[in-house]
Amino acid sequence: MSIQILGTGAYLPEKTVTNDDLAQMVETSDEWIMQRVGIRERRVSVNETTAEMAEKAARNALDAAGLEPEALDLIIAATVSSDSICPSLSARVQMMLGAHCPAFDLNSACSGFLFALDTAAAFIARGGYQHVLVIGAERLSRVLDWTDRSTCVIFGDGSGAFVVAPGEQLLASRIYTQGNDSALSISAGQNNSPFFARELAPYKVVMNGQETFKFAVRRLEEDIKLLCAQAGITPEQLDWIVPHQANTRIIDLCARRLKLPIEKFYMNIERCGNTSSASVPISFDELARSGKLKKGDLIAMSAFGGGLSSAGCIIKW
Ligand code: ACO
Repeated sequence: MSIQILGTGAYLPEKTVTNDDLAQMVETSDEWIMQRVGIRERRVSVNETTAEMAEKAARNALDAAGLEPEALDLIIAATVSSDSICPSLSARVQMMLGAHCPAFDLNSACSGFLFALDTAAAFIARGGYQHVLVIGAERLSRVLDWTDRSTCVIFGDGSGAFVVAPGEQLLASRIYTQGNDSALSISAGQNNSPFFARELAPYKVVMNGQETFKFAVRRLEEDIKLLCAQAGITPEQLDWIVPHQANTRIIDLCARRLKLPIEKFYMNIERCGNTSSASVPISFDELARSGKLKKGDLIAMSAFGGGLSSAGCIIKW
């Protein structure tokens, strides 16, 4: 049994931080960030928690699906910037929505939302789950070192959500992990244990940009080829690709390697930056609401990130 998307939703906090704003804080420039990454501005939460942003995307997705929260059988949330380790982000959202279903979180960094969608499909295939809410929500601004120009210019805050149900839209799905803690990490920090003697990294994003870049280009190309093979189609048959919005150069390289026109790749990185697990659902929601999707369109979603990890799927609209 496959799944279908009943509704999508997204939310971006109000405050826009431009590259020029960041140039007042660290030694950088609009020119460097646009050329090397492709971001002009990103949204940053001033007073909203990750759960509050997640709730807004979830309500938008439920509205689009025409469902009330009580209809949900399961909530899965992907995040690396939950407000607390416990309760989970998904449990907080369940409480805020007034839903009564089980809820759990999943962490696979920027690939997290597509890991969660794959997990939702597995629960639906198991039977007994009619409506599953899948969320990707991040307040990355709270895990960034705002003095580190190599990371603080890249990320943004936001949330996205899908409501999925049994159906026939999902043609292929895959998840991938290549354990590596040197390319990209966010330490959980440490407490005042008088017993633990090892030093842990501080609670912030630490990234080897070039190592992550090479992994990203390789995975994006390979995952899209493998997904197409799984779905029994060729990459040329794809109408849209919704990639993780990490760097326009990564997406350009992938388009060239796959020999696909760049116009098929949906991009909002210039406005949103990299919102980690929220990146793919925010992008997909924008595309779905733009009116550009036609019935029967073949759409690949593909993400990569910390873990190292990658994930993707193909759906028939
Ligand atoms: N402004 C100006 N100069 C900068 C900045 C900045 N914000 N950041 C770095 N530089 C400088 C560096 O210090 C370096 O200077 P030097 O040559 O004098 O030493 C120079 O720019 C080049 O730095 P590189 O790190 O080599 O730059 P690169 O071209 O690799 O771009 C970037 C860096 C944008 C991070 C790129 O490597 C990248 O996009 N990597 C992938 C990131 C990614 O995809 N992450 C996704 C996963 S995120 C997740 O899972 C949470």
